[in-house]
Amino acid sequence: MATRGDYVLGTQDDAIARLGLQHQVWRPRMLDAWRRAGITRGSRVLDVGAGPGYATLDLADICPAARRSSRSSPK
Ligand SMILES: C[S@@+](CC[C@H](N)C(=O)[O-])C[C@H]1O[C@@H](n2cnc3c(N)ncnc32)[C@H](O)[C@@H]1O
Repeated sequence: MATRGDYVLGTQDDAIARLGLQHQVWRPRMLDAWRRAGITRGSRVLDVGAGPGYATLDLADICPAARRSSRSSPK
């Protein structure tokens, strides 16, 4: 079972920055994939391993009625 600190790509500031850059690069394709998958207002989605939540915030924009339930990422 994974424990805090086990995530191979890290959870520190440099990993958060890497995920932010990755999100900027892939965001247009991600949004298009979600649109083609039919994710829209009222959809029920589950973001597992949300990390810093860049994608989660985009999902919240698309699905404004979304509820939040979270468990923190391993440090
Ligand atoms: C590819 S990243 C996801 C990035 C995220 N979708 C975003 O938009 O920033 C995977 C994330 O899963 C988290 N993670 C890995 N193992 C986990 C675990 N056992 N429990 C919770 N989070 C985990 C990592 O911390 C990492 O931030």
